Amino acid sequence: MTSVSFVSYSTPGLCQSVAMLPPAGHLLSLLLVIGTGGTVPSPRLAPQGCYVAEEAGERTFRCSQAGLRAVPTGIPNDTRKLYLDANRLASVPAGAFQHLPVLEELDLSHNVLAHLSGAAFQGLAGTLRHLDLSANQLASVPVEAFVGLQIQVNLSANPWRCDCALQEVLQRVRLAPGTGTGIVCGPGSRSDLVGQEFLPLVGEEELCGTGRGGARHSTDVALLVTMGGWLVLVVAYLAQYVWQNRDGTRRPLKRAPALPVPSEDSSTLSTVV
Ligand SMILES: *[C@@H]1O[C@H](CO)[C@@H](O)[C@H](O)[C@H]1NC(C)=O
Ligand SMILES: *[C@@H]1O[C@H](CO)[C@@H](O)[C@H](O)[C@H]1NC(C)=O
Repeated sequence: MTSVSFVSYSTPGLCQSVAMLPPAGHLLSLLLVIGTGGTVPSPRLAPQGCYVAEEAGERTFRCSQAGLRAVPTGIPNDTRKLYLDANRLASVPAGAFQHLPVLEELDLSHNVLAHLSGAAFQGLAGTLRHLDLSANQLASVPVEAFVGLQIQVNLSANPWRCDCALQEVLQRVRLAPGTGTGIVCGPGSRSDLVGQEFLPLVGEEELCGTGRGGARHSTDVALLVTMGGWLVLVVAYLAQYVWQNRDGTRRPLKRAPALPVPSEDSSTLSTVV
């Protein structure tokens, strides 16, 4: 249980003293289990196929290939690494891990995840560092799910819908090294993008209206507004002109009633228009 990680120390003196530790550590964890057995779920209470381990000195909860359809209950609250990979999880509800205040690493890979709550990782902002969502059925994830997290995430091998929302998600997270090429556009994407790697498309395609096309669009809007303003000014000027002209033509009318009034009126109007 405690014999895994003491290899990394290099000083021989330290090595010797550390070599003494495993039994003591073992005893300590035994005492802990006994001492807090009432409140902290012990390995015996873990869901079938799951077990608690101490890896690199960190409390680890392994539930790989356990046939799980939901995030199990009874995960010890001092768990730092949680492996739920290779199960049949289809979604992650809001606050699924919020009772794990020191969780650093979460492996949800090789499930059938198609939906993540926007609050799926709520409560993990200060601690979570690594998140594996690879090899699932995700076409999209809500960007809110990643707000505030400082994580490295593996998003490979999902049927991603390559759109603006995905671009926003990728601006929020850091991808685990070497996993960018694994983000490929799935069948929900625009037909000409299906099968293409996503990252090279960003900047090339109009996905958010913030690229080159988007800039052109906003220029068009500005031009329209300016032209509209000018049009209003011109129309106002014309209206005033016509109004004054009408007053001007009315007065001579009384003095010279013999003038062919209707024709003159229509001709001034037509020149104005
Ligand atoms: C786990 O829960 C116990 C009992 O509620 C509490 O005393 C302990 O501080 C918790 N541990 C962590 C790491 O939050
Ligand atoms: C990312 O996920 C893929 C598919 O599950 C896996 O092959 C790869 O090793 C992972 N990479 C990292 C850095 O976790």
